[in-house]
Amino acid sequence: MIDLHCHLLPGIDDGATDLETALAMAKIAVADGVEIIACTPHITPGVYDNQGPDIALAIISLQAALDAAGIPLQLTCGADAHLAPELGQGLRSGRVPSLGGSRYFLLEPPHHVAPPRLDLAVQDLLDQGYVPVITHPERLTWIEDHYNQMKALVGAGAWLQITAGSLTGRFGPRPRYWAERMVDEGLTHILATDAHNLRNRAPHLAEGREAVAARLGAEEARRMVLDRPRGMLANADPETLSPPNPPRPGLSLSGLSISGLSLSGARARGWMSKLFHVS
Ligand SMILES: [Fe+2]
Repeated sequence: MIDLHCHLLPGIDDGATDLETALAMAKIAVADGVEIIACTPHITPGVYDNQGPDIALAIISLQAALDAAGIPLQLTCGADAHLAPELGQGLRSGRVPSLGGSRYFLLEPPHHVAPPRLDLAVQDLLDQGYVPVITHPERLTWIEDHYNQMKALVGAGAWLQITAGSLTGRFGPRPRYWAERMVDEGLTHILATDAHNLRNRAPHLAEGREAVAARLGAEEARRMVLDRPRGMLANADPETLSPPNPPRPGLSLSGLSISGLSLSGARARGWMSKLFHVS
């Protein structure tokens, strides 16, 4: 498998705190079946001012440590690029590394506030020849009210990355609901771990693959963790990579409705009760 979103580089964001942690995370990933990891530290202006050349040096250093420790893991570059002005210029200049130097890059929207012109920003980046891969849309606190906008972004050419742990409930019932819905509705291009540490954010990718396999079959699950990521690192034209599976016939998400949003019964009640603190 290939994990294209992982905060493995030690000491440059809120991911691995030190080399020892990074090596331990790498061992977990290898044991899980991962062969390639894109090191994708945050680039958030004013918070994490990481830059391409520094990230590249950190990757060389960590790769040497992995090799010395006999951990069979190949690293490549990337960044978890927060939505910010001049992102296209940053990608062109190398200040913001894309995934393996390809046209694909991780785009992290604000977590708690829906950006008013996200569609224009995404379209602008697409027009510049990049493919924004929107990170963990299922965990955004504003996804309820903007699900159709997320669908429209995919229709325009953006890709979505779901976090593997969301599909197994590691982030609670609400992200799980949205992750499953985006998988079922053919909106999910890749899974990644977005791993940060050894505790609650360890690099477990296989569990997400198995969760997708149970819903859409092993072939589509493999595409999300291997075929598409491999194509992305090879800078393949997105048109040449298989699109996510279309919605399954007969899939029903009807049931409960809040603010025009349809949710299926038991699961909806599960995360709603958490939201509103009712049992
Ligand atoms: Fe991340």
